[in-house]
Amino acid sequence: MNKSILDYETVELDDENNALVIIDQTKLPSMTEIVNLKTAEEIWDAIYLLKVRGAPAIGVAAAVGIYLLAKKIETDDYETFYQEFCKQKEYLNSSRPTAVNLSWALNRMEQVCVANRDKTVAEIKELLKKEAILIKEEDIQVCKSIGEYGLSLLKKGDGILTHCNAGQLATCKYGTATAPIYLGLERGYNFRVFADETRPLLQGARLTAYELHSAGVDVTLICDNMSATVMRNGWVNAVFVGCDRVAANGDVANKIGTSVVATVAKRYNVPFYVCAPTSTIDMNTPTGADITIEQRPDHEVTEMWYKERMAPEGVKVFNPAFDVTDHDLISGIVTEYGIARAPYTESLKEIFKNK
Ligand code: MRU
Repeated sequence: MNKSILDYETVELDDENNALVIIDQTKLPSMTEIVNLKTAEEIWDAIYLLKVRGAPAIGVAAAVGIYLLAKKIETDDYETFYQEFCKQKEYLNSSRPTAVNLSWALNRMEQVCVANRDKTVAEIKELLKKEAILIKEEDIQVCKSIGEYGLSLLKKGDGILTHCNAGQLATCKYGTATAPIYLGLERGYNFRVFADETRPLLQGARLTAYELHSAGVDVTLICDNMSATVMRNGWVNAVFVGCDRVAANGDVANKIGTSVVATVAKRYNVPFYVCAPTSTIDMNTPTGADITIEQRPDHEVTEMWYKERMAPEGVKVFNPAFDVTDHDLISGIVTEYGIARAPYTESLKEIFKNK
């Protein structure tokens, strides 16, 4: 039987071969290429080039990656080991700025070193491996829990619109925004899903439409400029999106175009939900204005995916990878510990208190 894309691991540790194993998501859906990453540069490039992408998957890849890089440090002296670990950590952390899961996972790995400084370097390396595996296992449970809370907001036959890919390919299983859809599929909810294609990197077309279609979900691909039409037609009962960083006031950074969808949803009274594991909530960032938005190269807009260049040479390009959706456009933030509602300054604190 043919393997479905959902049968592959998004991120995997091959400890024997000292490799971080990923699916190269830039090649999907036409080619399923499994890549072994061994050096710091290969891991950095894979994250920067979006071979592995989506906030939770980036976090898991960084955790596995830093373990593999730490394993290669040849010293028995803790201070020398720790200094080199921090150097590698900072390097990986510089690969993408917006998804907080990257620094969250790397900081968690660093804490393993710090808390076990009295142990031998060999023992610390073993503990780092355990932590990386735990971060991956937790991600699966977290997504499942987000799926349950998300499903409680939906009813059978609902139409759902999603933007970018917050699917299994962005996590280790289920996805965040797609988790209610996958759980609903198992339970006969018969959702109708609209997937925005998501210019310029087409994560919606290449990844979300692909994985949902492979799973047997009723999914319709639309261009980004069609979301108002499907909402105006009354075909959408709820919008579910993922996110890269939630600020303490509930402002949310997610793939560019998300705030347009949120604004249109408000106009047509469609509830707009953001799915966010607590690893994506950054209580140290006060508002959306404090979130660094990644700027990406011009060629992603002018040439990439086209057979020939589609814009005049030398034209100015603005290519932010993410935008901020203001908290007043968000109906709820779905976490693994429950659904936060406005006022978010209070409800997000509560989520962490009950964690
Ligand atoms: O640039 P990408 O593809 O990494 O952007 C991904 C997104 O914006 C996702 O919605 C977000 O990371 C959440 S993934 C569960």
